[in-house]
Amino acid sequence: MTNPRELPIRADFPFEGRYLEVNGHRLHYIDEGSGDPIVFLHGNPTWSYDWRNIIPYLTTASRCIAVDLIGMGRSDKPDIGYTYVEHVDYITKFIEQLGLSRIVLVGHDWGTAIGLQYAAAHPDNIKAVVMIEPQALTPFADWSAFSPAEAVGLFQTLRDPEQGWPFMRDNSVFIEGMTQTIISRTITPEEHDYFREPFREKSSRKPMWVFPNQLPISGHPAEVVSAVEERNRWFTSTPIPKLLFYATPGCNVREPELAWCRNDLDNLTLHSIGEGFHYLMEENPHEIGQELARWLQNV
Ligand code: BEZ
Repeated sequence: MTNPRELPIRADFPFEGRYLEVNGHRLHYIDEGSGDPIVFLHGNPTWSYDWRNIIPYLTTASRCIAVDLIGMGRSDKPDIGYTYVEHVDYITKFIEQLGLSRIVLVGHDWGTAIGLQYAAAHPDNIKAVVMIEPQALTPFADWSAFSPAEAVGLFQTLRDPEQGWPFMRDNSVFIEGMTQTIISRTITPEEHDYFREPFREKSSRKPMWVFPNQLPISGHPAEVVSAVEERNRWFTSTPIPKLLFYATPGCNVREPELAWCRNDLDNLTLHSIGEGFHYLMEENPHEIGQELARWLQNV
């Protein structure tokens, strides 16, 4: 069998864009294939473009819906707070308005956290959960628990009330840093432009900046800490099937997070994609697509 890392990675995004109005603003999404729905939720600072090499493995058996969070990708950019709670509200209404049931949630980074928050509030609507480099699996007791340790300085700067916003606004750090932090593959200029597309205007970078400020660290923000704790009361007791994709060295998920998943989550499958950092769907998309299609056959 061909090594999935040797298969070509497409840069284009050949899907029909659709829009659904939520809270008076348009969420962009793609909707491909038929069957029970898979809802794909991207993280910070990406969009449904993330899933372009993975969805083709799944459309024969599933309806694949990949939505852009409010303020991100091709969704509208209203003047709102872009807090965790607001993102959960938009996604909850998106799922309700599409009338989806028996959902498989596939999330990357913050997308996993937002999806799990929906799942904990609507457990009867969830068939399975797939996590890729999930963010905020548990609240961080303090900065010494934050992963990745080498990014503590950057995240502290982004949470600084004086420096944080100008630093993100002027440097677009998570987008411009992609070429350094996608460690097992260098994305092409065409791919990088797709990721830059939503944030060309400096003023549009607020959602990218708010996310690091929503990380539940040392008890703040309190509303995120309590939301994650409440969600985990469900997540650590539900027997629904769970799949975690992780990488080495990884970013959000390293040994302590893997240990938490092994010890605290029931009915969990772990799948390493090998070398990778944070954007696993760019580093080894074909392995993720193939393994997801295989795993879903038994869900
Ligand atoms: C975040 O917003 O938490 C984040 C962004 C990029 C990489 C890792 C985490």
